[in-house]
Amino acid sequence: MAAKTQTTLIEQKVSNLLKQMSLEEKVGQMTQVDFSVIGAGPNSEEIDPAKLEIAVAQHHVGSILNAPGMPDVKARPLETWRKITVAIRAASEKTQLKIPVIYGIDAIHGATYTENATLFPQAINMAATFNTELAYQEGEITAREVKASGLDWNFYPVLDVGRQPLWPRFWETFGEDVYLASALGESYIRGHQGDNFAAPDKAPTCLKHYVGYSYPLNGKDRTPAWIGERALRELFLPSFASGVLAGSPTVMVNSSEVDGVPGHANHYYLNDILRGELGFTGFTISDWEDVNRLYTRDKLAASQREAVKMAVMAGVDMSMAPFDFSFPEILADLVKKGEVPMSRIDEAVGRILTVKFRSGLFDKHPLLDAKQNFATPEAAKINRQAAIESIVLAKNENKLLPLAKSSRVLVTGPTANLLSALNGGWTITWQGDREDLYPADKLTLAAALRQKNPDHVTFLGGGSYEHLIKLDEAVNAAAQHDAVVLALGEKPYAETLGNIDSLQLPEHQLALGRALLATGKPVILVYLGGRPRIITELAEKAAAVIVAMLPGMEGGPALADILYGDANPSGRLPFSYPRATNGITAYDYKAMENFDGASYQPLYPFGHGLGYSRIVVSDLHVSKPVYAIGEPVQVSVKVGNAGERAAKESVLLYVNDVAASVSRPNKQLKAFQKVELNPGQEKTVQFTLGPDALSFIGLNLRRVTEPGDFKVYVGDLSAGFALADKPKSPAPEKSAAKANRTKK
Ligand code: BGC
Repeated sequence: MAAKTQTTLIEQKVSNLLKQMSLEEKVGQMTQVDFSVIGAGPNSEEIDPAKLEIAVAQHHVGSILNAPGMPDVKARPLETWRKITVAIRAASEKTQLKIPVIYGIDAIHGATYTENATLFPQAINMAATFNTELAYQEGEITAREVKASGLDWNFYPVLDVGRQPLWPRFWETFGEDVYLASALGESYIRGHQGDNFAAPDKAPTCLKHYVGYSYPLNGKDRTPAWIGERALRELFLPSFASGVLAGSPTVMVNSSEVDGVPGHANHYYLNDILRGELGFTGFTISDWEDVNRLYTRDKLAASQREAVKMAVMAGVDMSMAPFDFSFPEILADLVKKGEVPMSRIDEAVGRILTVKFRSGLFDKHPLLDAKQNFATPEAAKINRQAAIESIVLAKNENKLLPLAKSSRVLVTGPTANLLSALNGGWTITWQGDREDLYPADKLTLAAALRQKNPDHVTFLGGGSYEHLIKLDEAVNAAAQHDAVVLALGEKPYAETLGNIDSLQLPEHQLALGRALLATGKPVILVYLGGRPRIITELAEKAAAVIVAMLPGMEGGPALADILYGDANPSGRLPFSYPRATNGITAYDYKAMENFDGASYQPLYPFGHGLGYSRIVVSDLHVSKPVYAIGEPVQVSVKVGNAGERAAKESVLLYVNDVAASVSRPNKQLKAFQKVELNPGQEKTVQFTLGPDALSFIGLNLRRVTEPGDFKVYVGDLSAGFALADKPKSPAPEKSAAKANRTKK
């Protein structure tokens, strides 16, 4: 059916339904509750039929979220989930209007809460792949596994740009660059939703956390950000704009505040910008308990009642309540007393119902076949490839790597033998730290190395992160080996529980590193963690450094492939790895930020990453010296493989606007392509920079393109061109949505 007819049909159905709904049914639709509200009791994965009836038939809840078992919320077997879905569907079928409940889940890096799901590298790693195809495939596979679990809606992707490495959700982002985050987010959504997310193996996504959440001044989760509107539009908004353009029908609201205005009270962001400028037509959902927090935490509202009114009138369409029915009760009363107009309720409910229709929920599809769609060998293969491409070889002195199979290797360190260290938060549980719940058939780094080379690899360490490895034992063991793989890093965490005051590594890890380096044996430092903890002292002395971050369930084998040369590393850092805890400057710094000439001195810069082949970049060429404003700029560059191994190479194209009416970054990523090169092969990579790639947020807070000189950079090469004409008028507001989206 043509898209337009389909839309009109849905509009009619929604309007018919709205006419039949009571006020209670409407405010119920705007309410989302946690599974525990319908659950049989603490730690139980069973539904209590009476509670389900209360939620669905009496309170008409529109949505349920989260995994069962509060307080022990954890992944459940596929069959459990399917049973849950069948029961909830049956409950809504019994109601008069038969409006289906939409079940939302955090399927972060895969179907987090279904046992044995395919769990990909976390977003920060996916960003390191610089491979939009892999992000697309992750979206496809995740949607299938979510749907095979009977679940309807995924609270993902995170499109917050990660420019504050202390922030405990840094690893949930696609890194510090807005263009990269936009490109990967868009691909993920397209894979997850397809052309029609009503298809049985597709599901709607949710862009979060709109907007400005990721840049807390003090680095702590859910604390204030101070982002001026120009910076917001330049650095934090375009990824959401891309997500909206890619068709995501829901948006989750920023749980903290920007410039004194909490996300849930920000009418300007939620309406003028999100809908007016970006063209979003779906529904917004609050984050966890955040409507109430306008009262309990933020003191914007003097009561819960005022908080409900404030949030709804600011543009929150659905409240993640999540534990009781006070939200719909208060809201109904507000409507009855004329404090919230019915038109606002109809607007919110209409949006919610539209998404339910568009998601195929009213079509009552049978559950997606689990066998063919869940944790397939094909998905594991793609996951392994993603893990390989997500790992960054940052240093490789004297070509120590790849290791010879005959070399005797000691593998040690607190993260060496933990699956949780490879996966991080949102894995099986919220915090991801329940090592006991991880699948027995997946391999840690140590296990994968031993499997590859059992006679020459020894593991030394405890079974947990807390078990400190004795320094003298480690030193003695190192003496018996030719090289040491030292795995350091972080214990998993999520959200506020991951707050820290310093990026410093724990002292015992530094001590272990120092002791092993002092043996004189070559040390290969492998960093596993969600944010760049400071490894400078050790990295400078180590023979090789691998920044592996959180490569997911296939991370162990992927690392072993790289260490032994069965895979050629191709990951590139999607952030600037700081040299010191306060040395936090992003790669796209302004000239002023580097006034002393020494401010951007990260341990490893954005885009850094080595491989086992020698890649030669040459002949950077802009097709003509002068372009008219609005004319696409054609850039080409040759990339050759002068090594002996097949390689994948991410070609990153940066642009600098030489002089502009607002200070511009020294360079900004505007396009990238990942190319495969056989030994001896050379390819010419073509880029087209659309007008938006040369624009910026001008003095009037609107996107402008100014004439003048521009530079482009690839690797060490640079070339220039000029834009000739003056812009006739500022670009239309809508163009913010297209910012930074020059496609490959
Ligand atoms: C997080 C969201 C998440 C939600 C539901 C919140 O605490 O901020 O990212 O989607 O919980 O689990």
